[in-house]
Amino acid sequence: MNRTVIVSNRLPPLDRDEASAGGLAVGISAALAESGGTWLGWDGQIDCEPDHGSRIQQITPYTIIALALSADEHAGYYIGFANRALWPVLHGRADLVRFDPADFALYRAVNARFAKQLAAAAHDADAVWVHDYHFLCMGEALRRLGIRLPIGFFLHVPFPPADTLAALPCHRNLIGALSAFDLVGFQSENDLRNFCDYATRYLGAAVSEDGTVAVGGRQFSVGVFPIGIDTRGFSALAESKEAGVLRERLRGCFEGQLGVIGVDRLDYTKGLERRFRAFERLLETSPAHFRQAFLLQIAAPSRMAIPEYAALRDRLEALSGRINARHARIDWTPVRYINRTFSQTRLAALYRLSRVGLVTPLRDGMNLVAKEFVAAQSANDPGVLVLSRYAGAAERLSGALLVNPYDIDGMAAAMRRALVMCLEERRERYREMISELRDHDVHGWREDYLRALVAAHRRSLAGGRQ
Ligand code: G6P
Repeated sequence: MNRTVIVSNRLPPLDRDEASAGGLAVGISAALAESGGTWLGWDGQIDCEPDHGSRIQQITPYTIIALALSADEHAGYYIGFANRALWPVLHGRADLVRFDPADFALYRAVNARFAKQLAAAAHDADAVWVHDYHFLCMGEALRRLGIRLPIGFFLHVPFPPADTLAALPCHRNLIGALSAFDLVGFQSENDLRNFCDYATRYLGAAVSEDGTVAVGGRQFSVGVFPIGIDTRGFSALAESKEAGVLRERLRGCFEGQLGVIGVDRLDYTKGLERRFRAFERLLETSPAHFRQAFLLQIAAPSRMAIPEYAALRDRLEALSGRINARHARIDWTPVRYINRTFSQTRLAALYRLSRVGLVTPLRDGMNLVAKEFVAAQSANDPGVLVLSRYAGAAERLSGALLVNPYDIDGMAAAMRRALVMCLEERRERYREMISELRDHDVHGWREDYLRALVAAHRRSLAGGRQ
């Protein structure tokens, strides 16, 4: 088996329990825990020194190469291009895109600098696996350095409709750069369809039935690889003694009421305002749930240097305050809104205590919280997942109640249905979902992707690369 060299902007949490709310780093670290390899990424530091050193740490079973960003790189590459231009456009929010050519130049420069470090660390038989929208130009930078290894890319976030993406002024350069990879992987069929449509219409590519894309004399492969979670590991965590102790301690806070739980990064793609409004609509239209249910929303602060995120935090504080002021009683608070990061163990305990998991993003690549909520349930008395049809997870979680996150009444109705659902139906839906999550976990995801990468590399060599 090839050793794997991973590149992602975020490095894995040193202690897995440190990480909250799903996310890329937790997903990949679970995948790499078995195979070992090298992982290169940003160490989260902003370093004023112009000569960028790297810190190398051996964290069994893999080696971490941690690179700092300069203040300019942080502002241009991470905040500017990745999160104020790419993130909104990839999530269908062309109206929020703030494009600055200088940011794009820094984005490419960081891709090139990380590629140089990677080239120095890669061995002959390695496979390189690049993750997410921060590194769309990494394949091109590696090929320029003469790297001939299999190089794959996986996009954790959605690929938008072609015309939406074309709102980004540099879209052709950026997406054209993907042709330097051997394999480009997506979370969902919808993302792949959007990509093929884009490549055909805007790059003049020829896309074959078997997932081969030919463009500008290059050939590469595309495919769908929906990321899973460490299903057995997460279920075991929810059943662990430690989570059990936490559960007993937290049970009192539920006071015999039914908990509806949401766990997200505080991000405008997560549909939090509409979610709050839908919960209020439930209270207004369903007297049976007044004082009998509450919404626990954990929203970990994220990217607060970006004005849209800070403004969203203000709006959510005002909205939760207004809902509580209007509906609360002395002994009952309908919305419990918390801006903090929770450990995985605490989340597992909270998921298991809750009757409904509410995952209603306006657009989401996959959403691992949806999967973790299901994995944390007990088979005897499982909770119900209410899931946005615009999350990648919706393509395969047929046991969830699927909702349109723009439809406040529809979401309120789905919550009501989930809260009164009989035990038999809850079990049936849980069984369907947990078997899907066990059959397609993060380990299988890694194996499927890397197998496909080696095959794609062979195909692109035969198709004339290098
Ligand atoms: C999403 C992205 C990841 C990113 C994470 C946290 O899950 O797909 O690439 O790491 O959000 O965002 P942050 O900007 O804090 O890394």
